[in-house]
Amino acid sequence: MATPQQQLEALRQTIRRHDELYYVHSRPEISDEEYDKHYKDLQRLEEQFPDFITPDSPTQRVGGTPLPQFQKIQHEFSLLSLDSEMTEDSVRAFDERVRRELGEERVSYSAEPKFDGLSVELTYDHGLFVCGATRGDGTIGEDVTHNLRTIRALPLKLKEGTGFPAHLVVRGEVFMKLSDFHQLNQGLTEMGEEPFANPRNLASGALRQLDPQLTAKRPLTITCYDFMNEGQEKPSTHFDAVLCLESWGLPIPQLRQHCPSIEEALAFHRDMGEQRDALHFEIDGIVIKVNRFDWQKQLGEKSRSPRWAIAYKFPARKELTKVRAIAVSVGRTGALTPIAMLDPVDIGGVTVSRASLHNVEEVARKDVRVGDTVKVERAGDVIPDIVERVEVSGEQRSQPFLPPEHCPVCQSHTIQEGPILYCTGQTVCSAQLKGSLEHYVSKGAMNIDGLGKKTIAQFVDEELVKNLSDLYTLTKEQLLALDGFAEKSATQLIQGLEESKQPVLPRFLIGLGIRHVGSHIAKVLAQHYGTLKKIQHAQREELQAIHEIGSEIAASVESFFQEERNLQVIQRMRNLGVHVEEIELAAKESPQPLAGKSFVLTGTLEDMTREEAKLKIEALGGRVMSSVSKKTDYVVAGTEPGSKLEKAQTLNVPVLEESAFKAFLSENIPSTA
Ligand code: IVH
Repeated sequence: MATPQQQLEALRQTIRRHDELYYVHSRPEISDEEYDKHYKDLQRLEEQFPDFITPDSPTQRVGGTPLPQFQKIQHEFSLLSLDSEMTEDSVRAFDERVRRELGEERVSYSAEPKFDGLSVELTYDHGLFVCGATRGDGTIGEDVTHNLRTIRALPLKLKEGTGFPAHLVVRGEVFMKLSDFHQLNQGLTEMGEEPFANPRNLASGALRQLDPQLTAKRPLTITCYDFMNEGQEKPSTHFDAVLCLESWGLPIPQLRQHCPSIEEALAFHRDMGEQRDALHFEIDGIVIKVNRFDWQKQLGEKSRSPRWAIAYKFPARKELTKVRAIAVSVGRTGALTPIAMLDPVDIGGVTVSRASLHNVEEVARKDVRVGDTVKVERAGDVIPDIVERVEVSGEQRSQPFLPPEHCPVCQSHTIQEGPILYCTGQTVCSAQLKGSLEHYVSKGAMNIDGLGKKTIAQFVDEELVKNLSDLYTLTKEQLLALDGFAEKSATQLIQGLEESKQPVLPRFLIGLGIRHVGSHIAKVLAQHYGTLKKIQHAQREELQAIHEIGSEIAASVESFFQEERNLQVIQRMRNLGVHVEEIELAAKESPQPLAGKSFVLTGTLEDMTREEAKLKIEALGGRVMSSVSKKTDYVVAGTEPGSKLEKAQTLNVPVLEESAFKAFLSENIPSTA
């Protein structure tokens, strides 16, 4: 007669085997009922012998209490990203470079789908899953071990006797199958909640839940495509290494191909492109990897991507549909955004029923009218865009879209500034008020937790909050009378508001939502003036004299603080206990030889990331802008620069290559004598 421990282990083995068959190979051998029976047997036996419960038991996937926050984890091996290519020619050019650098006539590749999910690093010690982290910035990620444990395709224990290394670091991608995505979204819609835009967003939200119970309700899956540590056991090619992962019980990409030359990889791309819509998960291209590890090593890597692999992406998906109506939404600044309401259309597995038309000028430029047929594009997780109107012969078109003269929410007059139409209603416009409140409490501004869109809408609709300062008059009783509040959440929110009463100056400035004052300008203003009072009294000319503040920003700041209503709200906040912390002004600024100079970065730098380059420029007083204009002083171009380089050349903007840029920086480092 087997001992209870033996019985427990036998049941666990059985369940693990069926988990692998079901979740990894999609080849179940038993019915759901039979599976449930094994599972219940195990649960019952574990209840009887709780001392014998092991962390790798299939019953222990959802455990642990909600975390206050994720721990940061330094990756053992940095998680590189991939350069992307869009055309066959550029993929062939990649192959030519690889062969040239290796001095080889023929190089074989391993090609796999590029899963549209989230990259993770998994660590197994002695076959037990001990740690899992998100990619983060590639060097430091977040510890999501508890959430990853809920993924049934992920073995908590590797298959015994299969020769896995004692310490194993695996890289994989977490994603959600389309069927699960649709089912979950349908549930959300039925409950009147906003559905997720795509499976990737849903998976990302699920993986980053602090409470693993919530993750467990979202069926995620995973595939593993690499392992990082080298041992004697490691095969000599990527293709075979992935087979090892499979033999140890890990899920691997089922669709993958060994390609004797780049031509087979191109054919794999075409093939995947054809299969793409029929797959039960989202892929956004294929990944092509030099197969031999010794060659991978020889080719090496750049700062953030290997020189031996590329992503060969699919073109964005486009579909035709009809415009049912053009609605107009109002944002916090009062900007009116026309939105095309579409006949729902499936674009690669996601139903699209609206697309932003950005502004009234864009509607006119694209000449989109109700009833028109339009081409809609969905690129990754970007909001769908209307590419163009499609002429349908013999169609009767409706009247052109007329920019509204009145705000659709508060009926105030609208005014046009540049391409954008604004509502003049300011605080009487409930849409603007909702938007300003959402902005005030947001992470980048005052960072007050527990105040979602829905709650804010209730505050405004119930007239509890008529301006920003009213937030500080809310009482627990008022909150408890609203939908969705309970004792705990109400107490927490009141506490959060209380804690927000000592903001630092830049955050408060951002929170006020002054047009053109984002995080950077808020910092500039705070550092220049030190106190809110001084900023309130600053004149336009004086503001404009500050480096980085142009006439538009100066005018906007001045007029914001001239507006009696705004001053009243700020004063009321003060009376209600909001005390904005002052900033100590730097005694003497460090020398800034690049002050007034603007730079644009393009392409990949070998010795530093773009972020590092930006910091270096800023430390010397320069600015880094995102696009090239006549005013740009220098364009810094790394390898594979984009269209910015071309633009620099046409505008005669000096271009610095990496070596010149480094020399330039060292010339400009002020002497410390
Ligand atoms: S290999 C050093 N293989 O794509 C090579 N990545 O754009 C690193 N991805 O961050 C990645 N499917 O999250 C590789 N079959 C696959 C992949 C894959 C999806 C993701 C991965 C990576 C991103 C790069």
